[in-house]
Amino acid sequence: MRRVSRRRLLGLGVALVGGAAAGCGPLAGLDRLPPRAAPTAVPSGTVGYQDLVVGFAQIGAESAWRVANTVSMKETADALGVELKFADGQQRQDNQIRALRQFIAMQVDVIGISPVVESGWDDVFREVKDAGIPLVLVDRRADVPDDLYASYLGSDFREEGRNAARVMAGLVHGRASIVELVGTLGSAPANDRYAGFREILDGYPDLRIIASESGDFTRAKGREVMASVLRNFGRQITALYAHNDDMAMGAIQAIQEYGLRPGTDVTIVSVDGIHDAFQAMVDGTLNATVECNPLLGPQFYELALKVVNGRSVPKWVPSKESVFLADAAQQILPTRKY
Ligand code: AHR
Repeated sequence: MRRVSRRRLLGLGVALVGGAAAGCGPLAGLDRLPPRAAPTAVPSGTVGYQDLVVGFAQIGAESAWRVANTVSMKETADALGVELKFADGQQRQDNQIRALRQFIAMQVDVIGISPVVESGWDDVFREVKDAGIPLVLVDRRADVPDDLYASYLGSDFREEGRNAARVMAGLVHGRASIVELVGTLGSAPANDRYAGFREILDGYPDLRIIASESGDFTRAKGREVMASVLRNFGRQITALYAHNDDMAMGAIQAIQEYGLRPGTDVTIVSVDGIHDAFQAMVDGTLNATVECNPLLGPQFYELALKVVNGRSVPKWVPSKESVFLADAAQQILPTRKY
């Protein structure tokens, strides 16, 4: 027997919620939507992409990486015919929690979320589970018991931190005074990139971190924090490790304004692999970027469909990633999609 999605059962679909899928502003359109009546019985069978109603609670638009991730989620939904309800959390956990409750009220078929920070999700995730809606973590993990989510799709952030340290050690021949620009405090990528980097540094006594501060994954904060660290440490600084490319781009500006040459006087390694980072490598102001792949839309909807159809899925679906050095940047730049 064919399983019918909540959208079909309720017959309220696209007309009611078309505004929300377009996603303009925080939680666009979601507040205005009436809750759907609860389905009584869901026959088993197969749901197709065109039956699927997905709620996705995005973090915000703090970086070029995040913008690319949002585009991938929206464009893939359009291409597959999935009905997507998109909520922009504007980097606030309370907004994301509110979005999840609205998705529950709408009785979407499946929920995706990139949790802005790791902790504080147990209660709302349990509400999602009690409502019978499967939840997929997208890009970032949450520190919750395994039974509260179906799968995590995303990167190995700790390995990214290790890779950043490995490439840094090679570039500076094992000796440097490093400034670290940390991502959003309490977020999975900031926690893991911090820890992974230090794991490798333990083997290099002359690689020293002299300052470590949060730049919240944004370009503006990266520039501001780097300028202040430069005022305190000046030419003592010989290397920079930024948890994302956007903070590195901001820091590059601060280093230039201070009168040092980024990429030469200060060796810089960051994470993401955005277009601007490749351009900076071509320009000689960035030395390496460790890739973190934001183009998760296709893998996400495939997972979501499997979960809704009751198929088994791995608890972690890792994304494929590389490390890029400046000497390959010119050739690779035109092929970058984000
Ligand atoms: O969670 C992935 C991280 O979030 C990216 O590295 C960063 O750019 C983004 O804001």
